[in-house]
Amino acid sequence: MRAVDGTGLPPIEPFRIKVVERLPQPTPEERERALERAGYNLFNLTSDEIRIDLLTDSGTSAMSDHQWAALMVGDESYAGSRNFAEFESTIQAITGFPHLMPTHQGRAAENLLFSTLCKPGDFVPNNMHFDTTQAHVRNNGARPVNVAIDEAYDLDSPHPFKGNVDLPALTALLDGEGSGRVPLVMVTITNNTGGGQPVSLENLRAVSEQAHARRIPLYLDMCRWAENAYFIRQREPGMADRSIADIGRAIFALADGATMSAKKDGLVNIGGFVATRDPELFERLKEALILYEGFPTYGGLARRDLGAIAVGLREAMELDYLEHRIEQVRYLGGLLAARGVPFLKPPGGHGIYLDVRRFLPHLTEEDHAGQALAVELYREGGVRSVEVGAIMFDGGVTERHAPLDFVRLAIPRRVYTSAHLAYVAEVVARVHARREGVRGLVMTHRPPRLPHFTARFAPAGAKVPPTPAERR
Ligand code: F0G
Repeated sequence: MRAVDGTGLPPIEPFRIKVVERLPQPTPEERERALERAGYNLFNLTSDEIRIDLLTDSGTSAMSDHQWAALMVGDESYAGSRNFAEFESTIQAITGFPHLMPTHQGRAAENLLFSTLCKPGDFVPNNMHFDTTQAHVRNNGARPVNVAIDEAYDLDSPHPFKGNVDLPALTALLDGEGSGRVPLVMVTITNNTGGGQPVSLENLRAVSEQAHARRIPLYLDMCRWAENAYFIRQREPGMADRSIADIGRAIFALADGATMSAKKDGLVNIGGFVATRDPELFERLKEALILYEGFPTYGGLARRDLGAIAVGLREAMELDYLEHRIEQVRYLGGLLAARGVPFLKPPGGHGIYLDVRRFLPHLTEEDHAGQALAVELYREGGVRSVEVGAIMFDGGVTERHAPLDFVRLAIPRRVYTSAHLAYVAEVVARVHARREGVRGLVMTHRPPRLPHFTARFAPAGAKVPPTPAERR
């Protein structure tokens, strides 16, 4: 990894390991059996079948000693817990949003916000919707529209802010088809669907102006906001000397509220929140919260979880942590680039996104190429990744471009060392070396919604095995 502190000494993980967890070592035969049992859907694997788990960076962080300590002093009062007060004041200090409530995770915050704001026939623009965000917009009869810049779809463009919103496209929607029918504009920082790519402060400012000129509120999906702020510090002119907290204040000042899955930059295993400046909306959200999640001072979480989130949100803003985090992703990218593996460049904040079309040019969408590649990485070295493409998104979002087609190697926070990543790079490179022999998959079970969680597959040309339900 590149040295970042100016001493010239080799970079190291900015933590030492106090508790360890054994990594399973499934044999090739065990992996093959596991794949068959799982219907070639890696969500169906059990953790003891996995060597390195890069399925997601969500809820998979290692908590710090201070976060564990916060759990131990949890105040489990149903209402008015002091952990809530700590949670609330931390988020208010970071974001400046006065009204907020905990939720059990990000999609619960999305449910509250979209079910309260959207009605059938509405449009919701977002640089790029994540799958649960898209599903909640649609669930309320509204139409999700992706409005990221063209460079977001060009896997080789060196654009420093590939998460940016295409401003003319946003204007066209707000004043054209969506005129009077856009209840909120949303921007996802960083843009997960597009590769964990950041959004610049300048772009956010312009989006905020466009929305507010039409009296439309701007909400941020802020689950990876600290990583986004780090990129702003690194790449945006005039930002190099500003703290992450300071950049955060500049970001949030432009918005009217946010949803957050604290399972990412909250450095916890569960939790989230929704925040707003609008006191009237807050009251409506509160009613929905009580119906679906719980009382507003716990929102579906144990109160001790709120304490761990408050600590984690602050730790995620520390510069040595963020430097290591972003460099770790770049390091994996460097190893893969040296072996000629195609992936989205520049690397984003939370993972490497393999370019499925260039990795497996002989396979098509009908072959479920992304899923076939994810399966192959598991087969080769027990590495679990996830398809971020046609199966995850399953149509339904308005796009100006052909949808992206990735296999994501998401890196959990503070969990794996450089040696683990070197192992991953070797596994991916070996599959790349034998890529021409990789076969496609057929989908044997297609669920009606969010198919990537529960779909089942079989190798193309093979006899279709019965599903567990059919076997019973
Ligand atoms: N928004 C974004 C941008 C996300 O990446 C996620 C989750 C959510 C919302 C929903 O949050 O899972 O707490 O309900 N992303 C995970 C991932 C699942 O693997 O990227 P949640």
